[in-house]
Amino acid sequence: MAPAKLILDGKEYELPTVVGSEGEVGIDISRFRQKSGSITLDPGYGNTGSCKSDITFIDGEHGVLRYRGYPIEQVAERSSFPEVCYLLINGELPNRQQLDEFSGNLTYHSMLHEDMKKFFEGFPPTAHPMAILSAMVASLSTYYPNSSREELRDLNITRLLAKIITIAAFSYKKSIGQPFIYPRNDLHYTKNFLHMMFAVPAEPYEVSPVVDRALNMLLILHADHEQNCSTSTVRMVGSSEANIYASIAAGICALWGPLHGGANQKVIEMLRLIHDDGGDYKKYVDMAKDKDNGFRLMGFGHRVYKNFDPRARILKKAADDVLAEMKISNPLLDIAKNLEKVALEDEYFVERRLYPNVDFYSGIIYSAIGIPVNMFTVMFALGRLPGWIAHWKEMRDDPKGRINRPRQIYTGQTERSYLPIEER
Ligand code: ACO
Repeated sequence: MAPAKLILDGKEYELPTVVGSEGEVGIDISRFRQKSGSITLDPGYGNTGSCKSDITFIDGEHGVLRYRGYPIEQVAERSSFPEVCYLLINGELPNRQQLDEFSGNLTYHSMLHEDMKKFFEGFPPTAHPMAILSAMVASLSTYYPNSSREELRDLNITRLLAKIITIAAFSYKKSIGQPFIYPRNDLHYTKNFLHMMFAVPAEPYEVSPVVDRALNMLLILHADHEQNCSTSTVRMVGSSEANIYASIAAGICALWGPLHGGANQKVIEMLRLIHDDGGDYKKYVDMAKDKDNGFRLMGFGHRVYKNFDPRARILKKAADDVLAEMKISNPLLDIAKNLEKVALEDEYFVERRLYPNVDFYSGIIYSAIGIPVNMFTVMFALGRLPGWIAHWKEMRDDPKGRINRPRQIYTGQTERSYLPIEER
């Protein structure tokens, strides 16, 4: 494609263009400052590509999401979470032998160093599991100090994927005062996680296939979403050559906020609030439209999807199926559906193209499979981990990669002289 032209202060600059494999066009401004002395300004990065990437394609206008080219609808229906981890991290679907080996390693490496249990003792019982998760993931670097060594990279990726479910389950057990349940070598990834979460020493525990399937699907739907807030954070931190554990711990912190992964917890809290307030969902739609109110419909709106979020569609149907299979009825699901219906017909939401996002229905399924509300964002982190790892790896493997360092337009005081304290 021909270069773009930009006229600044009467001078014309040619800027090279970059075309992606799906025809997306980018204008390469990386050398613009050297040529013109000026930068481009894009607060919130809504129109800025920070990298080229082969991992995930999103077309927000048409509700398209593909992992390494595979449509999310197919992957969610037919794949398992370990298979998706392999796909995202290695670029191709595994064959049977590769998958068995990969899954086997995830099970084999799932134990934590016994000393790490002492960390859990130090946290108050009310500690948010996201705080524990990020602290423990960063702490893994103290047990595997050679994690920056190139030849150990795959091993550390496996360790991270394998141990995060144990950390997550231990943080839950800690919060409810139950003894930790150790991973089992005869269980694969998601079953092992459910076993560590819900088994108690006194009784045998069988993982329900319905729950296992639902969990696989939820994790798959969260597995990657290109350059979102947490993934960009992982790339940003990793660009300084910080080790993988430190980079991922930073991503976990970025995910925690209610405008990102924290929204799934906020959705259930909002639905409960509406329920306890008599179920008048229309009142809350009106509140969300009132600019003086500050209330937003949690689980609604997305920076990228402007027609529908394909993950929310899959989850809406799955919420019905899982609840029916488990013979559970949840009044919050009815409130959610009514809220969606009213909002989708309302001019405010239509005009702003606000639709349910992945978080809108996920909490209802998490609740149905027994995951407590304060663990929802942790579940998101477990799902997003392979995406973060794939991006961290891609960034590290980029021969042109450099430390990420945005610029700014300074709007503060111009130079002034220091005043002694008596003269201020
Ligand atoms: N409820 C009510 N109004 C909303 C909502 C909402 N959920 N979301 C956006 N709006 C309105 C804004 O007030 C704004 O209105 P205005 O143009 O009159 O000022 C307009 O829609 C655009 O909103 P922005 O905040 O500018 O959109 P942005 O792309 O920056 O934010 C975001 C996207 C953060 C997801 C936003 O829609 C939101 O806060 N949603 C609720 C939180 C949520 O569900 N987050 C999860 C996102 S998905 C994920 O991270 C997995």
